[in-house]
Amino acid sequence: MTGFLGSAYLWVKAGHIIFVIFLMAGLFMMPRFFVYHQECAPESDEESKWIDREDKLRRIILNPSLIIVWIFGIALMIDIGAWSYGWFQLKFLAVFGLSAYHGWMIGYAKKLKRGERPLTGKQLRLLNEVPGLVAVLVVILAVVKPF
Ligand code: HEM
Repeated sequence: MTGFLGSAYLWVKAGHIIFVIFLMAGLFMMPRFFVYHQECAPESDEESKWIDREDKLRRIILNPSLIIVWIFGIALMIDIGAWSYGWFQLKFLAVFGLSAYHGWMIGYAKKLKRGERPLTGKQLRLLNEVPGLVAVLVVILAVVKPF
């Protein structure tokens, strides 16, 4: 199936990168929302506003972007036979980790909705560094292809 995208390859790659930007924006925003959410009083009006913002960020930005990034990424992967390259295998592992982080965040938002607050603000701020570091690795692997 190699090369099946033909001249559309660069358009799919552009779409992939555009939705990577949206996804990363959402991944950076959500734990920030959690920090502010946890600073307000339980069951207050302020808390219900944060629950609403988190729901919208998940429904409108995060989940659709993740799905589109995966679909376009897999199309690119099949097109160039990327699976046989070392840079891609490591990138795949890293984006798999990023998707697991995405899943953890959705789970945490549900816990907050139920009134649970398992992590401290400091822990959430530290976790907020994870997607940035993974993105640095992924972009270097995808662009420089060091091995
Ligand atoms: C979710 C699964 C993903 C898959 C299967 C995937 C797969 C791919 C493939 C096969 C390419 C084409 C490389 C080329 O044309 O040489 C590509 C390009 C790219 N990907 Fe992904 N990707 C994924 C997620 C991500 C994420 C999360 C990021 C950033 C954090 C990212 C950043 C990029 C960049 C910057 C390029 C352009 C590289 C270039 O051609 O210069 N990708 N991706």
